Amino acid sequence: MKKMLLSIFCISLLLSCRNETIENNAPVKSETDIVINNILTRRAIRKYKTQQVGRGKLDTILKCAIYAPSALNKQPWEIRAIQNPELLKKINDRFLSFAEGKTFQGSAAHYKEPGFSIFHNSPTLIVIARDKSSNISYMDCGILLENILLSAHATGLGTCPLGTLVPVLNRPENADLLELMNIPEGYEVAINVSLGYSDETPPVKKKYADRVKIIE
Ligand SMILES: Cc1cc2nc3c(=O)[nH]c(=O)nc-3n(C[C@H](O)[C@H](O)[C@H](O)COP(=O)(O)O)c2cc1C
Repeated sequence: MKKMLLSIFCISLLLSCRNETIENNAPVKSETDIVINNILTRRAIRKYKTQQVGRGKLDTILKCAIYAPSALNKQPWEIRAIQNPELLKKINDRFLSFAEGKTFQGSAAHYKEPGFSIFHNSPTLIVIARDKSSNISYMDCGILLENILLSAHATGLGTCPLGTLVPVLNRPENADLLELMNIPEGYEVAINVSLGYSDETPPVKKKYADRVKIIE
C-alpha cells in the first residue's frame, strides 16, 4: 500500500512539473544559444556603478581567465585584480601626469575633465602582464582577455579592455607600481580591463561583415 501511494505521489509530481513546463511559455534556450547570445550582447562598458564586485563573481571570472588556451600550455601571464582604492587612485594619477599636455583619441581625450578615470571609475581593475621572452604571449593574453570579458558578461558584470593605460604602466618611472602589484621581472603589462556593474547600455558598434569571406 505504502509503495503504491509513493508511486502515485511520484507520478503526480512528474505530471505537475511537465504541466508547468508546458504552461510556462518561456523559450527554453539551448547551451549553444546561451553562449552565442553572450558573445553577441557583450559591449565595452564605460560607466559603472560604485558597487564593488564580490569575491564569488571575481573568482569565477579569474578561473575562466586561466582556463584560456595558451601555446604549449605555457600560461605566460600574471593577472592582478585590483580593488584597493589607494592603488587605483595611484594608477589613475600616474596616467594623468603622463597625459599632461598630450592629446589622445577615444575616451582618454577627456582626461582634463573633473573626475576623469582612465579605467572609467570601475571599482575593479584587472591588470594582465605577459612574459616578455615570447611574442606569442601577446596572443595568449588576448585569449585570456576575451575569457574575462565573456565570463564577466555572463555573471552580469560589465568590462572594458584598456589599451591606453598599457604604455603608461610599462614606463620605467612607473616600475614601482608593477612592484606594488608583485609583477615579476621579465613581465610587462599586455592589457588591462575595467570591471564592475554596468551603469549604461551601449548600442552595438558597427561590425564590418565585409571583412569576412567564405572561400568555397
Ligand atoms: C586591445 C583593446 C584595447 C582597448 N583599449 C581601450 C581603451 O584604452 N579605452 C577604452 O575606453 N576602450 C578600449 N577598448 C574598447 C574598444 O574601444 C571597444 O572594444 C570597441 O570600440 C568595440 O566596442 P564593443 O567592445 O562594445 O564591441 C579596447 C579594446 C581592445 C580590444
